[in-house]
Amino acid sequence: MSPDLNSPFRTKTVEQSIRDTEEPEHALRKSLSAWDLTVFGVGVIIGTGIFVLTGIAARNNAGPATALSFVAAGIVCALAALCYAEFASTVPVAGSAYTFSYASIGELPAWIIGWDLVLEFALGTAVVAVGWSGYIRNLMQTNLGWDMPAALSGPDAGGTFDLFAFLLVLALTAILVVGTKLSARITAIVVAIKVTVVLLVIVAGVFFIKADNYSPFIPPAEPQPAGGGLHAPLVQVLFGYAPTNFGVMGIFTAASLVFFAFIGFDVVATAAEETKNPQRDMPRGILGSLLICTVLYVAVTLVVTGMQNYAEMSPSAPLAEAFKSVNQPFFAGAISLGASVGLITVCMILLLGQTRVFFAMSRDGLLPRVFSVTHPKYRTPYRATILLGVIIAVVAGFTSLEKLAELVNIGTLFAFVVVALGVIILRRTRPDLHRSFRTPLVPFIPILSMAASLWLMLNLPVDTWIRFGIWMGVGVVVYFVYGRRNSRLAKAGQDAKY
Ligand code: ALA
Repeated sequence: MSPDLNSPFRTKTVEQSIRDTEEPEHALRKSLSAWDLTVFGVGVIIGTGIFVLTGIAARNNAGPATALSFVAAGIVCALAALCYAEFASTVPVAGSAYTFSYASIGELPAWIIGWDLVLEFALGTAVVAVGWSGYIRNLMQTNLGWDMPAALSGPDAGGTFDLFAFLLVLALTAILVVGTKLSARITAIVVAIKVTVVLLVIVAGVFFIKADNYSPFIPPAEPQPAGGGLHAPLVQVLFGYAPTNFGVMGIFTAASLVFFAFIGFDVVATAAEETKNPQRDMPRGILGSLLICTVLYVAVTLVVTGMQNYAEMSPSAPLAEAFKSVNQPFFAGAISLGASVGLITVCMILLLGQTRVFFAMSRDGLLPRVFSVTHPKYRTPYRATILLGVIIAVVAGFTSLEKLAELVNIGTLFAFVVVALGVIILRRTRPDLHRSFRTPLVPFIPILSMAASLWLMLNLPVDTWIRFGIWMGVGVVVYFVYGRRNSRLAKAGQDAKY
């Protein structure tokens, strides 16, 4: 009825979004509680970030002050979480930031964010699968003295194809096809193991802290090694100031890296449609899991940087190596084992989030609708799950970690910016909607959230920005070639005309 229906900024109403989920053919089962969501959140948040990146950040960028980097990244995420929670409790439909944007800003921005989330989740899954594979190879090497042939160890280990990472993604894909409830049960067990390992690090490690290792707590600033160019943080290129390692600025450099450790709380929002009481449970699930993880990260970082001098920390298995450094090989082995088990859930939930975003985009007609038909028995979007699972498995098999992780971070931070903007817009355009959770101090908190996310984005390298730009450019082309004509809103527009 409105001329808006032809615009790339046409929006889908919140009521329409919720109605779409009620079509039986395209419906997901509503089975998750606040507890399931929190377990989901913790299950995906604690992963490669704390198990691997802590060592790199402490060693290269911030020393013991990496604990402060976690606080900084945690604050950025908490601000974003306050916005996510309002959206998730107002628009309880699969697809996370994608759905929220569709209901508030418009179709093109929603497509852009959906495309961005595909990047975040798909590459995030691949990153974690490769990290897991590294831990498994390490365990096998240490305990059985068995080395994986280099050719099957993946590019990071000087090989070509990472067989373990590839197989892990395929196995998880099969589990997700069978159903969310089963996956949630497996997740709960693995999350318990993972949290136990993290608590073990804190409780056992605290006895080995040496005060000397905290001095200096913030190591003095030193210039970053030359090499700049495309790998310099964008902020350096834009404002012409030379970034340093260590010092106060080093804390932010490290924060933009360890930000990866928090990715995942937003995934909780992608399960909104499968939640029994989303109005109440989504905010609890999102904020609860974020809070638990922040406390654990800060504690773990303080403990391991207290156990071992930051300059000697391991860039690949810092938590286990900290225990080896104090002659506690038993703890080191237990931690490596727990980490390998824990990374499985991270991988699985990222994959789940990924398929749900794809599902929502397909259901809206922005991607071919065949992908959103749910399985007659399992009620899962099995076609999207299988297609994406296979693609991600191949990517995980052939790609190296570092660049992928940076790309994941920039994509996620971009999504945070859009969600915060969406909260402000939706408050203006639909003040009438029931919001069981309201972001406090709107528009101040959303604006602060956007600024904080942008700041971390600016600390990422120029080449990451370029890759991100290319991916998003391709997305815009796909939208104008396919989605714009085939979306359900476009069809509704045509029906209205004729
Ligand atoms: N936050 C998750 C991790 O650190 C993605 O592995």
